[in-house]
Amino acid sequence: MVAIQSITDEIAELKQARRAVILAHHYQEHEIQELADAVGDSLELARKARDFEGDVIAFCGVWFMAETAKVLNPERTVVVPDREAGCSLVESCHVDQLKAWRRKNPDHVVVSYINTSVEVKAESEILCTSRNAVKVVNSIPADKPVLFLPDLNLGNYVREQTGRQNMKIWQGACIVHATFAARKLTQARIKHPAALVAAHPECPGDVLAMADFIGSTSAIIDWCGSQDAPEFIVMTESGVRHSLEKLAPGKTFHFIPNEHCNCSECPYMKRNTLEKLRDSLRDLRPRVELSQDLIERARVPIERMLAIR
Ligand code: 13P
Ligand code: SF4
Repeated sequence: MVAIQSITDEIAELKQARRAVILAHHYQEHEIQELADAVGDSLELARKARDFEGDVIAFCGVWFMAETAKVLNPERTVVVPDREAGCSLVESCHVDQLKAWRRKNPDHVVVSYINTSVEVKAESEILCTSRNAVKVVNSIPADKPVLFLPDLNLGNYVREQTGRQNMKIWQGACIVHATFAARKLTQARIKHPAALVAAHPECPGDVLAMADFIGSTSAIIDWCGSQDAPEFIVMTESGVRHSLEKLAPGKTFHFIPNEHCNCSECPYMKRNTLEKLRDSLRDLRPRVELSQDLIERARVPIERMLAIR
């Protein structure tokens, strides 16, 4: 307890000295969320990243999110507590694979999920997040075919919601959400018959089919807070428990383990710790560094997405 307090104090001092802002995704450890200037989902954090004054952004999330913050704030220093805080979706589509896919489908519009490398973003027409993916795809003229990448489950969900048939979907997956099993959700529903089910669209289709609500991380939190039900089964990363319990203290939230471990945690997100956050503010490393050319090219599809309300 004393140790955590002293690290927290060090972070507060460094934050002031560096004129830094701390942004945290809902999947971060609760100690990090408590220190953050803003906690949000990937779309909210992309917007927040450019709405503040200061010299440094300490991005407590995964690397692609920090790259997005850097693209929107090229003059600021952007650090992440752990350089290995990656994402299986980013790894599932390398920019050379996208270029080859584009060459085979030259008339298609490329819609990339924000969970992509900055190089992939720079080769895309428009980005989306789980919160706005349906709106983004609906913003593309119906006669224009679409390449959607990299998440297969989100792509299938968007196709179903938009009714769009001229859409090809990459076969990438989130190692957390894609391994939630309908079988385990069924068991949880038998155990908690009064609970409503909320799911992130990166979950498999058979899990989504059982959900009362499907939405991005913050949309799930808002929805659970707005319902009269006292109990929820939440099909997303368990870091959201902190925000859920803050918003709705009297309610109960159940998280079910995924297939590959007895937890529902993102191993990439959980690489960030208070100690590493302190070190990143002290050393200004690991730092996102991008060429001017990459920043300019990646900025265009990000701004197109941010213009869609
Ligand atoms: P959100 O857009 O809901 O923040 O999701 C990001 C993510 O990585 C989900 O696993
Ligand atoms: Fe990537 Fe999945 Fe982790 Fe989100 S939860 S950062 S999509 S691996």
